[in-house]
Amino acid sequence: MNAPTELQKVLAAQEKKSLLRFLTCGSVDDGKSTLIGRLLYDTKLLFEDTLASLEKDSKKFGTTGDDIDFALLVDGLEAEREQGITIDVAYRFFATDKRKFIVADTPGHEQYTRNMATGASNSNLAVILIDARKGVLTQTRRHAYIASLLGIRHVVLAVNKIDLVDYSQAVFDKIVADFHAFSARLNFISQAAIPLSARYGINVIEKSKETPWYGGPSLLAHLEIVDLDTALVDKPFRLPVQWVNRPDLNFRGFSGTIAGGHIKPGDAIAVAKSGRISTVARIVTMGGDLPQAVAGDAITLTLADEVDISRGDVLADPHARPIVSDQFAAHLLWMADEELLPGRQYLLKLGTATVPAQVSVLKHKIDVNTLDSHAARTLALNEVGYVNVSLAQPLAFDAYRDNRDTGGFILIDRFTNATVGAGMIDFSLMRATNVHWQAVDVNKQARATMKGQRPAVLWFTGLSGSGKSTIANLVEKALAAEGKHTYLLDGDNVRHGLNRDLGFTDADRVENIRRVGEAAKLFVDAGLIVLTAFISPFRSERRMARELMGEGEFLEVFVDTPIEVCMQRDPKGLYEKAKAGKIKNFTGIDSPYELPERADLTIRTVEATPEVHAQAIVQYLRDGGYLG
Ligand code: ADX
Repeated sequence: MNAPTELQKVLAAQEKKSLLRFLTCGSVDDGKSTLIGRLLYDTKLLFEDTLASLEKDSKKFGTTGDDIDFALLVDGLEAEREQGITIDVAYRFFATDKRKFIVADTPGHEQYTRNMATGASNSNLAVILIDARKGVLTQTRRHAYIASLLGIRHVVLAVNKIDLVDYSQAVFDKIVADFHAFSARLNFISQAAIPLSARYGINVIEKSKETPWYGGPSLLAHLEIVDLDTALVDKPFRLPVQWVNRPDLNFRGFSGTIAGGHIKPGDAIAVAKSGRISTVARIVTMGGDLPQAVAGDAITLTLADEVDISRGDVLADPHARPIVSDQFAAHLLWMADEELLPGRQYLLKLGTATVPAQVSVLKHKIDVNTLDSHAARTLALNEVGYVNVSLAQPLAFDAYRDNRDTGGFILIDRFTNATVGAGMIDFSLMRATNVHWQAVDVNKQARATMKGQRPAVLWFTGLSGSGKSTIANLVEKALAAEGKHTYLLDGDNVRHGLNRDLGFTDADRVENIRRVGEAAKLFVDAGLIVLTAFISPFRSERRMARELMGEGEFLEVFVDTPIEVCMQRDPKGLYEKAKAGKIKNFTGIDSPYELPERADLTIRTVEATPEVHAQAIVQYLRDGGYLG
């Protein structure tokens, strides 16, 4: 190692001070940049250039030696990068002799919730800027609500441009009263309000003579003394396992960043999901073994026993374990242009674990202006809802209020890989955990053997009028003639009963196919050859149905008929009506059909008669050994 540079010495000195992370929010012209610039400039510690170049050159991350270890300044950033949700958020560092600060500068354009969620998820405090001339706006309320939702407990109402209202105490008092009327319903521990002018430095660093009626501290003085939340270090121990480090047979370590509490060799740990207990043998780091480690430290633990642990597991304090469940209630902030579709499968990333998940119930959405709840079937960009989430497998987690790292999650679109939502877990729903799968003696295999067939689903998909029902019907007749046991689920019929409550919005179609998939799965379990005839326009749900079944049990049959032909046929006169605007959300007209990417069979109805296609499908089943 080279001798430390001057800059490294400065950074090392900074390390000993307490750190306040905060974010600034407000509408576009409220003066955020000016305020941040002023704080940075006036505190005379301008690291922003270096940080800016760091942002550009992420290769430098984690390097040491001659490079400055910027992780000192921006620890936590890396985790966010890995989550893929850092966009447009610049972290800037400054310090005074009392405290050091990281400010997340989140742009105020319309994708603000996404940026705010990113910036707020590890902030202690939010500075909400208000233009003194404009007062409390919808945007102000929205930002305050989201900050509260994201676990920020301290807020500063920065009433900016006070010079432009002649330093009027009356204006200031009115704004503060308006804000408090709203924020009383939020979970803030401290709410300061400061009249200031970022442009002229009024009450930013020092108290100004221009506002003699204001008795509180300057913004910086307030930031220097505001209480920090209970430190993560004091919370129960949590280590989400990032990877299992096994360079050779003699070493097996579990690596990750401590998300709560502290640990030392000899401490007992529990593997949250399996409940296995062991003892910490060593805390290994690049720089040698440690006598102890605390929240925020990236470490590798070795244990006294051989315990089965893999990525996504959480090592925890055995006396204060996280919840393990596959269902929970949560607040969800929707961040995508495409709306949330309850029932659709997304990937949920929580700590180091990633599992398929769906919003099983959207209970309501929240009007951020009034904080009222409204019934809703979907969430649009920037909307907040209260939801039940169900996971494909149980995970270990905490309530978000107890630990933001182990209680926060993101939802990822399975096709685009984009982050579409950020969630805050409220509590676990134990329903699913208490309902155990009932083992039965007569199983699928036994039922199938009795029927002399191999159960499967023939999943017909295609436009309305493409010929799904016609062909499925002929296939079923042919199978029945051979004495096979079948069941046909048809869109129009199922929509008269089981799915009577569903229409044709994207959300309803997702739910339609989810239920049909589950029903088909039960019939397959009964040993039947199931035929389903639904448009099933979305790849996501067809894939979900496929994943519900066992290997070889799902056969996707794409009934590929050009829309012009379907329109000509128009057996129910629906295309005619749709074109005339009398039916909304009609597939192929004003609602999409996503072409299958890996259909097992493709049927071109313009090339042969339905009978010929039906025979070909029966032959396909015979060749595949489905008919015994
Ligand atoms: S799906 O999209 O949810 O899979 P499903 O197959 O159940 O649709 O229902 C499609 C049938 O409902 C069509 O064959 C047609 O008879 C009827 N229908 C009524 N309105 C619509 C619509 N807006 N879009 C598509 N089909 C509709």
